[in-house]
Amino acid sequence: MMWHRDTPFRLGGAKQAHLKVDGLSAGYGAFLVLRDLKLEARPGLTVVLGPNGAGKTTLLKALNGLIPRQGTVLFDGEELPEKTHEIVETGVALVPEGRQLFPQMTVTENLELGGWLVPKGERARRIEQAFNDFPKLRERANQLAGTMSGGEQQMVAVARAMMCAPRLLMLDEPSLGLAPKMVDELLAIARRIADAGTTVLMVEQNVKKALAVADRGYVLERGAIVASGPAKLLARSTVIREAYLGADKDPATGTTNAADAVARRKAAVTT
Ligand SMILES: Nc1ncnc2c1ncn2[C@@H]1O[C@H](COP(=O)(O)OP(=O)(O)OP(=O)(O)O)[C@@H](O)[C@H]1O
Ligand SMILES: [Mg+2]
Repeated sequence: MMWHRDTPFRLGGAKQAHLKVDGLSAGYGAFLVLRDLKLEARPGLTVVLGPNGAGKTTLLKALNGLIPRQGTVLFDGEELPEKTHEIVETGVALVPEGRQLFPQMTVTENLELGGWLVPKGERARRIEQAFNDFPKLRERANQLAGTMSGGEQQMVAVARAMMCAPRLLMLDEPSLGLAPKMVDELLAIARRIADAGTTVLMVEQNVKKALAVADRGYVLERGAIVASGPAKLLARSTVIREAYLGADKDPATGTTNAADAVARRKAAVTT
C-alpha cells in the first residue's frame, strides 16, 4: 500500500514482541469469566473475535493488570508483571473499550497524558511523531477531544497509547460505533502499526473486516477459545462462516449480530 511510506508510524517499540498466554483464568471476584485460556500474540496483528459478553474485554483487562489473573503470561519469554504501571513500563499499552479520553482536554493534552512516564523532551518528540503518524490529528491539535467525531476520538485514543512507544498494543473494539469508512480507516491504522513493528492484539466484533486485516485470529465464546488459526483460514472455517458471516449479516456494515450468530450455532449443534 502506497501510504505506508507517507505515514511510516515511527512511534512504537523497536523489538518485535511476542505474548504467550497459557492457562489464563480471570474474572470478577468469585465470578470466573475466562477459564484456562491459551493464546498467543506473535509479531503482526492478532484478532480476538467473539460476541457480547464472551470475555474479550476481560481478557485485555487481565493482560493489562486491571483485574487479577491466574496462569502464565510470558512477554518475550519473561513473566508479565501484575501491576498495570509495571506492565506499561514493560512495553504494553491498552486502548480501552469506549476510548476513555479526557473530553475537556485538547488532543495535544490527551497525548501528553499518554506520555506522562517519559521525560519532557522525549514526550515533545513523541507528540511530534504522533502528529506525523496521524496527520488528521495535527489539524485538530487544539480541539477538545470531547467535541471530535467517534472515529477521530478513536484515533486520539490509539495515538495516546502509542505515546508509550509500546511493543505490544492492545485494542478493544476500535471500530465500535463507527461508520463503515471510519471502520476501514481504524483497521488500516491497526494494520500499519503492526507492519511498523508493534505487535497488535485486537478485540473486534467486526468479523469480516477484522479477519481481512489480521494475520491470525481466535474466536472466544463464553470465556473459552472455540476456534483459532491464520486469519485467511479462520475466515473460511465453519465456525466463522456459519456463525459470524451468516445470511443475516448487516449489508451496511458487513457485520453479523454476534449474539444471533451464537444462537444459530447452538441451534445447529442441537439439531
Ligand atoms: N466489572 C464487572 N463485574 C462483574 N462482571 C463483569 C464485569 N465486567 C464484565 N463482567 C461480566 O463478564 C462477562 C464478560 O464481559 P466482557 O466485558 O469481558 O465481554 P466482552 O466480550 O468484552 O463483551 P462486549 O463485546 O459486549 O464488550 C460478562 O458476563 C459480563 O457481564
Ligand atoms: Mg468488551
